[in-house]
Amino acid sequence: MDDAPSLRQRLLRTRSVEEIMSCCAGEHALKKVIGPIELIFFGIGAIIGTGIFVITGVAAADFAGPGLVFSFMIAGTACLFAALCYAEFATMVPLAGSAYTYSYASLGEIWAWIIGWDLILEYSVSIAVVAVGWSGYMNSFLTEIGVVLPPALVNPPGIEGGVINLPAILIIALITLLLISGVKGSARVNTAIVVAKISVVLFFIALGVFYIDPANWNPFLPFGWSGVLAGAAIVFFAYIGFDAVSTAAEEVRNPGRDLPIGIIVSLIICTILYIVVAAILTGIVPYSLLAGTSAPVAFALEYVGVPWGAEIISVGAVLGITSVMLVLLYGQSRIFFAMARDGLLPRSFAKVHPTLRTPVRASLLVGAVTALLASLLPLESMAELVNIGTLAAFVIVSVGIIVLRRTRPELPRPFRCPLVPLVPALAIGFCLALILALPTVTHLRFVVWLAIGLVIYALYGYRHAHYRNPGSAGDDRAVQENE
Ligand code: ALA
Repeated sequence: MDDAPSLRQRLLRTRSVEEIMSCCAGEHALKKVIGPIELIFFGIGAIIGTGIFVITGVAAADFAGPGLVFSFMIAGTACLFAALCYAEFATMVPLAGSAYTYSYASLGEIWAWIIGWDLILEYSVSIAVVAVGWSGYMNSFLTEIGVVLPPALVNPPGIEGGVINLPAILIIALITLLLISGVKGSARVNTAIVVAKISVVLFFIALGVFYIDPANWNPFLPFGWSGVLAGAAIVFFAYIGFDAVSTAAEEVRNPGRDLPIGIIVSLIICTILYIVVAAILTGIVPYSLLAGTSAPVAFALEYVGVPWGAEIISVGAVLGITSVMLVLLYGQSRIFFAMARDGLLPRSFAKVHPTLRTPVRASLLVGAVTALLASLLPLESMAELVNIGTLAAFVIVSVGIIVLRRTRPELPRPFRCPLVPLVPALAIGFCLALILALPTVTHLRFVVWLAIGLVIYALYGYRHAHYRNPGSAGDDRAVQENE
């Protein structure tokens, strides 16, 4: 009788949590240097950025009006349910691959690949989106101090005489170098930036509250509830990043305790700040005036006659957006690293530098690809694609929690998502509703992205997956030692 596994069995083959954990112990592990406060800062570092400083303008003007407050509440609730699922997984399988690794343990290889490919979309394209947002704020800041760059060097091709977005490339290159140099230093830079960025957001709240004109909140829902939901699907971008905390799992000193704290606390802080900022923003400027502004928060203060306040916001936004890139570039390189370690991507990207103990090759590749995207593509076309990719990842992670509670109930779970299956089911429901609220063209682009991913899997990952080549564990070690 032929005992060879069927194609279906191969595609859905899961790796046990024990097996996954065993790959990364000992001297070949990434360096464990991150604590709970750093993780919270890490989360906030990734979360507050282009979403609140740039995308809120479009969301209020074209979709939600002052109902933007509800949009932030809906997107925040979806993220909170998903965050509880992430926290359970991150403590159960505290490895660098985040949702990719969790799906390998719960749903099987093909799902792991799909989600890994999906996370590449989430991180790489959002790094590009954020770099373009950074470049926009930086450029307006430089113009204010009299340094005017030619349009050819600040816009992508096809937009206002653009050829290449040079500032976006430079900032990605700089951050990539910082990340390669070591995690501890990167975490310090991030912490300093986050303090500045929260101060700027609090500054906006404290100043803006005096300029609220309640007449601006009338009508509160100019586009109805469907507008609020469409707005939620767009401002969802502002929340992306809390999940990046889980990619640090392998470098956290006490993951069982610190990961849930980092994921959930950072998300809650940002949700509260966002709701208050949205209320104030739409309270001080008529929502329709926010159309077409690439710096809505700064614009609001200028509108009420506080230009110096607008300048402070611009500086804070540039800084804030920098830390988003820092954390997302970090997260992407770790996911890439984890997929390469499993053989689904070329194994050489799983090399850890012997002294820096960072995945240098994975970081360089991610930096190069995201810089290319950021230099050539406009912001809007990418942000919605990132949202759908991330929402899909949240759905799969939530399904994974329900599955693993049934198939491996005995596994130690230092943090347990409450009310399973209700909370994961709510996460799935909210995320699917937001996916449906995105434009059809975004759905189509996402399907094309997944199709490309499946072709790559069929041609490469399927044949090179680690478990199909059991002897390659030794190769893996050799790769790391001989660097
Ligand atoms: N949440 C991040 C931002 O808004 C991606 O920039």
